[in-house]
Amino acid sequence: MDDDALLKEQIAYYRAHASGYDRPYAEREDLRELLGAVGELPIAGDVLELACGTGQWTGALAARARSVTAVDVAEETLSIARARVASPNVGFVQADLFAWQPPRRYDTVFFAFWLSHVPPSRLPDFWSTVGAALAPHGTAVFIDDGPRAAAREEVLTDQPTPAVLRRVDDGSAYRVVKVFHDADELTGRLTALGWSADVRPVGDSFVVGVAEPPANAG
Ligand SMILES: C[S@@+](CC[C@H](N)C(=O)[O-])C[C@H]1O[C@@H](n2cnc3c(N)ncnc32)[C@H](O)[C@@H]1O
Repeated sequence: MDDDALLKEQIAYYRAHASGYDRPYAEREDLRELLGAVGELPIAGDVLELACGTGQWTGALAARARSVTAVDVAEETLSIARARVASPNVGFVQADLFAWQPPRRYDTVFFAFWLSHVPPSRLPDFWSTVGAALAPHGTAVFIDDGPRAAAREEVLTDQPTPAVLRRVDDGSAYRVVKVFHDADELTGRLTALGWSADVRPVGDSFVVGVAEPPANAG
C-alpha cells in the first residue's frame, strides 16, 4: 500500500472515530497531566495548531495566545472542537495538511499527536512547511507518543511505512501511519535539517519538543 492510500485510510479512521476520540483523555491520568503541562511550554502570540482534533489542546493554547488558528481535515472532530472551544480568539480551518499551505506566518506552530502520523518520506517537506509558517523568532512546539507507547498499539509489521491498526466502536479496522519517535533520534534528524531542537522524553511514554527552524536558529 502506498502512502497516499494509507493517508486516506488514516483520515477515514479519524472521521469514523471522532465520537470516541476523547475517551483516552477521560481515562488516562498521564494524558491529563500532559495537558496540564502546556503552561510550561513556550506558546505565545499568534498560534497555528496542526491537526487540532476535538480541541483537547486548543483551549489551553488560546489561554496563552493572541490568536489560535486550528486546522484539521475531519469535519467530525472539528465540530466537537468548535463546541468545546468557543473563544473569540480561536478560528478553525478544515483542510488536508498534506495539501494546505499556511496563508501567513505564526509565532508558534503547535502539534500534538500529529508528527507520529506523518510518513517518514514526507518529514523533510513537513518540517520545511512548519519552518515556512513560522515568523522570525517563531517556535515549533510538539507533543507525541514515544517508543514506549508502541506497547499500547497493534503494530503492523508488514507495511513499508510504519503503521498500526486501529479499531472503531463498530468493529471496523483502519491502518494509520504511526512513527514512535525517539527523542534523541528526532533531535538528531531536526539538527541535520538545520533546526535548533530540544526533544525530551516526558512521563512514561511521551516526547515533547521545542524547535526553531534554520533561519531562526543561532
Ligand atoms: C491523533 S489525532 C490528534 C488530535 C489532537 N491534536 C490531540 O492531540 O488530541 C490526529 C488528528 O489528525 C487529523 N488528521 C488526520 N489526517 C489529517 C490530514 N491529512 N490533514 C489534517 N488533519 C488530519 C485527524 O482528523 C485527527 O484529528
